[in-house]
Amino acid sequence: MTQSESVNADTTADSELGPPKPCSGILDIAAYVTGSSQAPGVNRIYKLSSNEAAIGASPAAIEAYQALAGELHRYPDGGAVELRHALGEHYGISADRIVCGDGSDELLGLLVQSYAGAGDEVLYTRHGFAVYKIAALGAGATPVTAAEQNYTPDVDAVLDRVTERTRIVFLSNPNCTGTYLSADEVRRLHAGLPANVLFVHDAAYAEFVDAEDYSAGFELVEAAENVVMTRTFSKAYGLAALRLGWCYGPAAVIDVLNRVRGPFNVTAPAQAAGIAALGDQDFLDRARRHNDEWRPWLENEAKAMGFRVVPSVANFVLVGSRDGGPADELNRHLISRGVLVRGMGGYDLADFLRVSVGSEEETRAVVEALASFPASNPD
Ligand SMILES: Cc1ncc(COP(=O)(O)O)c(C=O)c1O
Repeated sequence: MTQSESVNADTTADSELGPPKPCSGILDIAAYVTGSSQAPGVNRIYKLSSNEAAIGASPAAIEAYQALAGELHRYPDGGAVELRHALGEHYGISADRIVCGDGSDELLGLLVQSYAGAGDEVLYTRHGFAVYKIAALGAGATPVTAAEQNYTPDVDAVLDRVTERTRIVFLSNPNCTGTYLSADEVRRLHAGLPANVLFVHDAAYAEFVDAEDYSAGFELVEAAENVVMTRTFSKAYGLAALRLGWCYGPAAVIDVLNRVRGPFNVTAPAQAAGIAALGDQDFLDRARRHNDEWRPWLENEAKAMGFRVVPSVANFVLVGSRDGGPADELNRHLISRGVLVRGMGGYDLADFLRVSVGSEEETRAVVEALASFPASNPD
C-alpha cells in the first residue's frame, strides 16, 4: 500500500467510526442543577438556594485563606497532612483513616468510581442527594432508589431493594428533606447489608443536628469494614467556595481513595482555612445558635400561613404548597421579590421549595415574601 492509499483507508475508516462517544450511562446524566443566584429585574437578592452558611465563615479561616495569597505558585500538600491531623485531633480519630477532598462531592464520586461499574447497582433513598445518581451513571452503574416514609429514609424499604448486584448504599443523614434517621435505625440498616456492600453515611449537615439519638457515624465506621462517613466544610463552617470535604473510613477504603484521587485535590488555601475553622469553636457555636433560633422561626411562620413544612434538623426547611400541588407559582412569586430558593422537582418533590436558613434579614425577607403570596392561590 502506498502512503496515500494508507491515508485514504484511514480516512474512510474514521468517517465510519464517527466522533468519540462517551461511555455508557454518561448521556443519561441530567447535569446537577445548582441553586439559582439570579433574579432578573430585582434589586436586592436573598440567595437561600444552596444551604450555605447564614453567618459566613470564621474570621480565623478567612485570615488563614488570605495569608496564602503570596503562595499561589506553590502546589499544596498533596496528602493534606496537617489538615488530616487537625481533624484527627478534633474528633479523636486516626488521621490515617481520613482522606480530604475537593468538597465531599468529589469523594462521593470517587467512591462510586472505585466500587461500582457496569452491571452494578448503587442504592439510595428517593429524596437522597442528587450527586449519587450522577456518580452512579458516570461510572456506568445503575442507580436504584428506595421509598421514603414522611420524607425520611425507610430502612426496610432500603433493605428490600438490596440485590446481589448492589455495591454501594448511600444515606444522606440528615436527608435532603431535613429529616434524619436515628443512630439505632442507621445501625439496623447497616446490619441488614451484606458485608461486600459499601455503606456511605453522608453527614453533610451533622453539625446542625441537636437530636440526642442522632450520630454522624463515627462508631459505625470504627465497628465495620464496609462503612465510610463523609463530611463537609461547606455548610456549618461556611467554606463552600473553597470546596473542602473529608471522609473517614476503614484503612482499605482510604487506601483506594488515595490511589484514585488527584495528587493535589485540595488547594492550599482550603487546607489552611479548614484547619483554622476547626480551631474556631466559638464560630461553630454561633453558627449553631443562629440556626437553632431562625430555623424554628421560619418553620413556624410558614406553617402559620398554611404552607406545609417538613420538620428539619438541618440548616434548611422544605416549604410546600398549601394544597400539595406543584410549588412553581410560589417559587415565581418568591423570585419576583428577590428570594431565591431551591425548587425540589429534581428531588421528586415538585410540591416543595427548599429554603436555606439565612441571616436574620434574609430569613425575614423569606417570611415577608411568603406572607405576600395570596392565600387564595392554589400553591
Ligand atoms: C447531602 C449532601 N451531601 C453532600 C453535599 C456536598 O457538599 P460539598 O461537596 O460542598 O462538600 C451536599 C451539598 O449540598 C449535600 O446536600
